[in-house]
Amino acid sequence: MDTEYWIAADKAHCWHPFTRQDEWVAGEPAEPLVLVAGEGAWLTDSEGRRYIDGNASIWTNVHGHNHPVINAAIAGQLEKVAHTSYLGFANPRASELAQRLCALFPPQSLERVFFSDDGSTAVECAVKMAIQYRLQTGEENRTEFIAFDQAYHGDTMGAAALGGVGAFFDRFRKLGFPVSHVAGLADLMALEEAALARTAAVIIEPLVQGVNQIRPWPAGMLRQLREWCDRHGVHLILDEVMTGFGRTGSMFACQREDVIPDFLCLAKGLTGGYLPMAATMVRGAIYDAFLGGAENAFYYGHSYTGNQLGCAAALASLDVFEQERTLAKIPAKVAQLQEGLARLADRYDVVHEVRQCGMVAGVELRGKAGERFAAADRTGEKVSLLARRHGLLTRSILDTLVIIPPLSIDRDEIDHMFRALEAAIHDYFQDETPA
Ligand SMILES: Cc1ncc(COP(=O)(O)O)c(C=O)c1O
Repeated sequence: MDTEYWIAADKAHCWHPFTRQDEWVAGEPAEPLVLVAGEGAWLTDSEGRRYIDGNASIWTNVHGHNHPVINAAIAGQLEKVAHTSYLGFANPRASELAQRLCALFPPQSLERVFFSDDGSTAVECAVKMAIQYRLQTGEENRTEFIAFDQAYHGDTMGAAALGGVGAFFDRFRKLGFPVSHVAGLADLMALEEAALARTAAVIIEPLVQGVNQIRPWPAGMLRQLREWCDRHGVHLILDEVMTGFGRTGSMFACQREDVIPDFLCLAKGLTGGYLPMAATMVRGAIYDAFLGGAENAFYYGHSYTGNQLGCAAALASLDVFEQERTLAKIPAKVAQLQEGLARLADRYDVVHEVRQCGMVAGVELRGKAGERFAAADRTGEKVSLLARRHGLLTRSILDTLVIIPPLSIDRDEIDHMFRALEAAIHDYFQDETPA
């Protein structure tokens, strides 16, 4: 078993997400990297090279890889049982986890947790619940949704219908359910009353859109959106799949603007980035509408719903938040990120804009006169690939280099990340000599 073998088997049989398979199999623009181990903020490839996980393994990892507390929790659970059906049965870890998640919010707010498997299913559940709620509360005409331009909410058909990135979703959207997309709050407020009367819910990635090249919303926007929803009887679905579990500096992004949603979608960081698991949290009043007869029940679920290993990992991750005072340590890291980003913007003309929301950051590259690079140049992708040579794994979105490290990253590791970014920019734009 070695690198060559794994790559050959991959190229012969695997199909990767969001990937041009013809290029991948041709080894273009780079041969696949085979990741075999991790420790803290670092990952190791099959040739023994080490990299900072600057992308937190697609925005999932929170406390670092190979964390002893989470490892022990999973191993301990394995001694008992890995998985049991949640359909018709309860299990200790899921009970404990639901209770702990609800306790993170004020009493009588988000009171129920529906478990599923990943970010897309967390959103899919919220959408189906939002529709069914209206159907059984005498508001049969309120079954449409409002989402934001360039939003990303996942890839299952329902979540895809909400998505606003044309290249991903246009060919599927018309097969989904009615969704109006708006650019921002002003657009939303301009919608006609008749459209609002058909609307079940608005969905948003709170504080910052991730897939839209890390684009923060204006401060205060979320609070205003909540007030608007209340005025118009529209439910608010917060997709905290990326922002949840500390990424923006508080446990949940909504807490930064003192907002409680009607539906909250969680995934990625829920298990500390260890196992696929999601949760859709709802207000008690919404849950109540699903009581009182077979016709009101929520007929939805997956085989691995409430998976005991996933719940054990999630409980351990919440423990680590407390034991390591993870949230208390974030402000200093956010400040260091901010300084590093400002330095990049200062030093390199090709750094057009840096955007940051807590531990989530993007570095947008453009030509020196501010012009966008041709899409065919794939500048961001090539700079990200060059960063590998300097010990950093990240993934660009178009020409924005994304920086979302594990929250556990330390000072030296953040410095390493910026050195690697600078070196990659320097390598690609040969003439870009730092001032
Ligand atoms: C905001 C948001 N929602 C939903 C998803 C979908 O999550 P998953 O890939 O786990 O299905 C993502 C994934 O990046 C996301 O960023």
